[in-house]
Amino acid sequence: MKKHLVFLALVGVVGSASAADIVGNAKAAENKVSMCIGCHGIPGYKASYPEVYQVPMLGGQSAAYIESALRAYQKGERKHPSMMGVAASLSDQDIADLAAYYSQQK
Ligand code: HEC
Repeated sequence: MKKHLVFLALVGVVGSASAADIVGNAKAAENKVSMCIGCHGIPGYKASYPEVYQVPMLGGQSAAYIESALRAYQKGERKHPSMMGVAASLSDQDIADLAAYYSQQK
């Protein structure tokens, strides 16, 4: 009985360690934003081509907002052809990194 409990405790520890939470890393996003800059402009700036695109400013928005917007495009809940294409290519880690990056812009 006692052995059994020890085994369960170990499984618990290993199990929780492998289910690592995804933490956004703004630094890691620096080489991922190259695919966003063309439309969203230099970080914190409104748009590269204001006369062509109406593109939302990302810099300074909350990480949670950016993350949920990207997931909504991924799931098709929010529809915009170019953003759905971009979001589809992002992993969960990419989204977390990008959200961290843009939320730290001013
Ligand atoms: C081809 C142009 C284009 C590219 C590339 C692009 N975006 Fe966008 N993005 C847009 C447009 C246009 C919108 C507004 C769409 C809408 O009205 O739903 C938008 C909207 C967003 C929004 C929602 C903002 C808000 O205020 O609701 C987020 C977040 C976002 N983009 C993140 C990104 C990220 C991160 C990348 C790079 C991985 C990226 N976008 C690349 C054009 C682009």
